[in-house]
Amino acid sequence: MDLFRTKPVAPAPHVDAGEPIEGSLEGEVTLKRVLTARHLVLLGVGAIIGAGIFVMTGQAAANHAGPAVIVSFLLAGTACAFAGLCYAEFAAMIPVSGSAYSYTYATLGEAVAWFVGWSLVLEYLFAASAVAVGWSAYTISLLESIAQMLGAEWRFPDALASAPVTYANGVFAPTGSIFNLPAVLIVCAVGMLCYIGIRQSATVNAVIVAIKVTVILALIGFASQYVDAANWQPFIPENEGGDRFGWPGVLRAASIVFFAYIGFDAISTAAQEAKNPQRDMPIGILGSLVICTILYVIVAAVITGIMPYDMLGTAKPVATALEPYPELGWLKFAVEIGAVAGLTSVILVMMMGQPRIFFAMSHDGLLPPFFGKVHPRFRTPHKATIVVAVVAAFLAAFFPLGMLGDLVSMGTLLAFATVCAGIFILRRTRPDLPRSFRVPAVSFVSPLGVVCCLALIGFMGWYNWALLGAWTLIGFAIYFSYGARHSALNKT
Ligand code: ALA
Repeated sequence: MDLFRTKPVAPAPHVDAGEPIEGSLEGEVTLKRVLTARHLVLLGVGAIIGAGIFVMTGQAAANHAGPAVIVSFLLAGTACAFAGLCYAEFAAMIPVSGSAYSYTYATLGEAVAWFVGWSLVLEYLFAASAVAVGWSAYTISLLESIAQMLGAEWRFPDALASAPVTYANGVFAPTGSIFNLPAVLIVCAVGMLCYIGIRQSATVNAVIVAIKVTVILALIGFASQYVDAANWQPFIPENEGGDRFGWPGVLRAASIVFFAYIGFDAISTAAQEAKNPQRDMPIGILGSLVICTILYVIVAAVITGIMPYDMLGTAKPVATALEPYPELGWLKFAVEIGAVAGLTSVILVMMMGQPRIFFAMSHDGLLPPFFGKVHPRFRTPHKATIVVAVVAAFLAAFFPLGMLGDLVSMGTLLAFATVCAGIFILRRTRPDLPRSFRVPAVSFVSPLGVVCCLALIGFMGWYNWALLGAWTLIGFAIYFSYGARHSALNKT
């Protein structure tokens, strides 16, 4: 068995922006090419802005970086820019639904591709669950404030409000709750939408993105008038040992807020449904990344400018920052709505991405054919979508956000590092492939991308490494018992 056999890549046929291509040449039902550049940018923004900015920024500022969380956002954004450039070249050149998994199959071989595909489960499936947990907290708080405004004394039952345990720094503690009901409900609702169609999913996403971006722009426009530059002093608070403040803190915060950028790569899983992937994939990936980086840096500057950083360590830091300003009460309410909307679209795009990666893995024989089935009418990978929804709902019901969040970042960083390395390799092994987008200064961007991503993984705690190790072992057990034996490459 050759673990490093690569899947040959042929130049992708140019898909024109005009008519969607219905069905494949073999008459088999395939995914539908309906997405335009605008859809792709919106999918990117939909997947990117979510729990990272609305939930995690607070802890990163209050416990690790202080106002320099702005620098942490810039550092994480730079690592993502390197990866984003490499994704853009790959997604335009190999416009299939498998994303980093498929790119790795073409460059580093089957076993590494499986490892990346398995790590992407951490990124997409676990992110959907992690963000559903954040969605649940924001929604419960929003419903309770609405009840309060209406004069009702209503509280969501604690027993159904969270996972039975919490997790921080490698330690579990009981919460007294049974399971997280709102998280399960949102995952099921989004799963149904993904089942019905890519166009419907993209339309709902566009509406949600409009809401959350409007709220963020309103926050920037109105709250920035209350910025007090004294809150930015000291910009990098003095190190208090370990990764509490100072430069070590800024770097640790970068590894935390990296989560906020995850999602631009999810657009690449829609490459097989883009009308003109050669032109539009780079626009979608890089466009959404640039928009979100600018918004993040400004939001981080505004919230650390209107409230001292040590008061931001709450589960809803953006809303918390507005609390001392009663005249901005309406904005606080809008931020809560924007956060719920934002988290919904992240869950949506992640739950669209995961079945499409399974679809690609199934077509390569590494997963059972079940995952590769396409619904005859809706033209979605419907069976894989059901599996993803059931597993994501289970995780969201019983596992805490802290545990899921770091694993998501680690899985994603591994995939990013591999994609950055892969682009360099393919330039050498297949210089002939037509590339509608080329990474500029590839011999600089590609290695630097690998180094930045691995460095960010290095700032994750040991317990995350232990979990990742266990996850990888399970993955390889599945690969050797199924994938390696059923690989489509065995037949050639
Ligand atoms: N970037 C996404 C978020 O922040 C995963 O929720």
